[in-house]
Amino acid sequence: MPTRSDFDYVEETLPEPADGEILVKVLYISLDPAMRGWMNEGRSYVPPIGIGEVFRAGAVGKVLESKNPKFAAGDFVSGLFGVQEYALSDGRGVTPANPALAPLPVYLSVLGMPGMTAYFGLLDVAELKDGDTVVVSGAAGAVGSVVGQIAKIKGCRVVGIAGGQEKCDFIVKELGFDAAIDYKSENVRAGLKEKCPDRVNVYFDNVGGEILDAVLTRLARGARIALCGAVSQYNNQDGMKGPSNYMALLVDRARMQGFLVFDYADRYMEAAMEMGGWMAEGRLKSTEDIVEGLETFPDTLLKLFRGENLGKLMIKVAGE
Ligand SMILES: NC(=O)c1ccc[n+]([C@@H]2O[C@H](COP(=O)([O-])OP(=O)(O)OC[C@H]3O[C@@H](n4cnc5c(N)ncnc54)[C@H](OP(=O)(O)O)[C@@H]3O)[C@@H](O)[C@H]2O)c1
Repeated sequence: MPTRSDFDYVEETLPEPADGEILVKVLYISLDPAMRGWMNEGRSYVPPIGIGEVFRAGAVGKVLESKNPKFAAGDFVSGLFGVQEYALSDGRGVTPANPALAPLPVYLSVLGMPGMTAYFGLLDVAELKDGDTVVVSGAAGAVGSVVGQIAKIKGCRVVGIAGGQEKCDFIVKELGFDAAIDYKSENVRAGLKEKCPDRVNVYFDNVGGEILDAVLTRLARGARIALCGAVSQYNNQDGMKGPSNYMALLVDRARMQGFLVFDYADRYMEAAMEMGGWMAEGRLKSTEDIVEGLETFPDTLLKLFRGENLGKLMIKVAGE
């Protein structure tokens, strides 16, 4: 687990934007399990965060000053602004966030990276079909809670796996999942047998480890596993523990495919339009877990690995 001493909290003079740049006041910062991976050296899909660099983070903020023709002072924007109160940006990867359409935190939740991950992982990678039985782990989290709701909108049977009774009640009673399995107090394999009598067509895997192994034993023929993440393994000092039941992929003619949401960047607007419509109709809910104060970052991050967050974890840095 990361510790407080892995982080420095420093103050410096506010920079002036150069030509082409904007100065952004950061309002909300997204906290993601992937941040743990960015602290490791070695090859990955993005370079590690260097010692002494500002910690990478998605965020929503307000443009204070603009020397970039695409933005004006007062615009609300979303981008990789980092764990800091003010950010300079050249505008690349920065998109508008309109508070008249949705509250700003939603641009880090359903209408942000986790929502996009759920949408494309489920519909594109797992190729969701009518009548599928869908199982999702990390089901009360940012991505999982959206996966389950989209699968319900698409008419599927949805079973969520989450830690604790409160989260299990939440996904069934508040989000409309058909059933939940509390992996902390139940045997997952037995729970899947009972709650997915026709076996599992789609498994959206957020956690890896033992839960993945259990789901592999309950696949239907032609099942699709979307490999989204493996949060149970991110702090594992002995390296990642892989699934031992992978021969189920052969027996059940199934496939497991990893994906990265960033590869769908040119289709985000399509997903945002459809999910925004579902939100307006009251069929898709955004759940946010908001902690106040930038300086809480090192401790707040741990909530993800202790299972203490419900929905999308973020830090409120400042008011609008
Ligand atoms: N591929 C991509 O492009 C992409 C994009 C975004 C996110 N992701 C991945 O998607 C997954 C979910 O991310 P998120 O942002 O939605 O996080 P999240 O689900 O909101 O938060 C993490 C949750 O993981 C669960 N967890 C923690 N340790 C666990 C363990 N040992 N075993 C089982 N569950 C554990 C906890 O829920 P419980 O209380 O239920 O244990 C915790 O609340 C992560 O693996 C993340 O890396 C991938």
